[in-house]
Amino acid sequence: MPHMFSDVRAFRRDPLQLLLERGNSAPLGLEPLHLGPGLVLLVNDPNLIRPILKAPETEIGKGKLIKKLTPVLGESSLMLHGEEHKRRRAVLQKHMAKGSVEKYLPQMCAEIRAVGAKLARLGSFDPHRFTATLALRSICIALFGSQVISSGDEEALVQAIGIIEDDLAAEMFRVLPIGPLGWYRRKKSRDFAKLAMSTLVQRLRTGAGSTSMLRDLEALGLNDRELRDEILTLLLAGHHTTGSTAAWLLYHMAANPALMDEIADEAAECLGDHGELRAEAVKRADVSATLVKEVCRLYPSAWWTSREVMAPVTIGGRNLKVGTSLLICPWQLQRDPRHWEQPDRFLMTRRYTTDAYVPFGAGPRACVGMGVALLELQLLALEIAAAYRFTGVSPNPAPWPKASVTLVPPPMNIAIELRQTRRRNSALFEAGVELPYVPPVGVVPADTLYSQSQ
Ligand code: HEM
Repeated sequence: MPHMFSDVRAFRRDPLQLLLERGNSAPLGLEPLHLGPGLVLLVNDPNLIRPILKAPETEIGKGKLIKKLTPVLGESSLMLHGEEHKRRRAVLQKHMAKGSVEKYLPQMCAEIRAVGAKLARLGSFDPHRFTATLALRSICIALFGSQVISSGDEEALVQAIGIIEDDLAAEMFRVLPIGPLGWYRRKKSRDFAKLAMSTLVQRLRTGAGSTSMLRDLEALGLNDRELRDEILTLLLAGHHTTGSTAAWLLYHMAANPALMDEIADEAAECLGDHGELRAEAVKRADVSATLVKEVCRLYPSAWWTSREVMAPVTIGGRNLKVGTSLLICPWQLQRDPRHWEQPDRFLMTRRYTTDAYVPFGAGPRACVGMGVALLELQLLALEIAAAYRFTGVSPNPAPWPKASVTLVPPPMNIAIELRQTRRRNSALFEAGVELPYVPPVGVVPADTLYSQSQ
């Protein structure tokens, strides 16, 4: 009988390795992990994932995870249950579901082009240093309806969110109790960050558009604190998740020059008369969409989530007591050789219809920002491939991610240059005639938009 803490050391050393080894080698079902006094079961059977995520919350709820997050995130749609959760989620969905996010396309593209111009001037770059801020800007577009954030405010926001994220990461990986001094220090820095956030949110509210998500949240009658917590939750939930996925996406474009050229062709097919990406055409752009799917398979930034048994229940033929924790780990499921051929390889020929593919969760608590994230990632691939070529990448092969709140890419370097010729799948292109590259309209001098902090 293993000791109740016998997995703690391996978990602390590298949780990704531990979960992969245990999940992939155990028979499909519920695999016990020995991380403390409570029973924690890793769900490695894809057939059990959706029933668990779709179960009534009176049977299987978010439980302990929420208790850990509440001091940081307060009462927001991520934590709430029942009718209040439904009410808030409906507003978020109205503004972020597939089908309604296309309205953000022009502004998102302008932001990506501004980043591209800056990267090209640098000549080489570490993607993760840029993608997290880009993701923050996309959420601000969705939340406030326009680009209301100044570079100074953005820097303050990034700092405050950074403190809160570090706090969250420390809390999520904490196995042993924290001492009074540690508790006091953490509370102090968290309070500082929340105060900074409140001041910022007040300022951003004044500039928000009249039909924005923020105005609809206000219309629900939320008070200032509830609004701040809701905004903080959206910024946190969407910032590093999309930011680290975007960094991996750029990495794989750099490591596959032929794929990048293919996406440049696809982008050319999507362009309108003024050099802008057309929403209708982007919907049909399969190569860039597949790239996004494969990157979300290899690096699901929400790499684990958990549920708690709230009433006695039978799962996978096993009777579970109240309080049992269920660990759902897309990182493991999406790299299990029983469901994926050559699971660690980046391949553009896969099918994603299996139940072992859940990067955005499932059921009533599935990611509400999925539409924004998917659109942003696809536009990033199309816009960057259309205008630039990546001419080198290191390290190669792909490095191992660092497990934090998301799957953080370690430092990488990508060399970039302006694409000299625009590729086009037109008759001219097929005849071997390449058109000179014309910078798309909307390219904004990077200096005017970006602060020195990036
Ligand atoms: C690649 C990017 C993203 C990934 C992989 C991701 C993944 C996830 C996952 C797996 C969940 C479900 C967690 C659970 O069931 O316990 C979730 C929930 C959530 N996500 Fe995302 N997310 C991403 C981007 C975003 C963005 C851009 C936003 C907002 C702008 C967002 C907002 C939320 C919120 C509010 C929830 C809680 C929903 C609820 O409980 O009703 N996410 N996300």
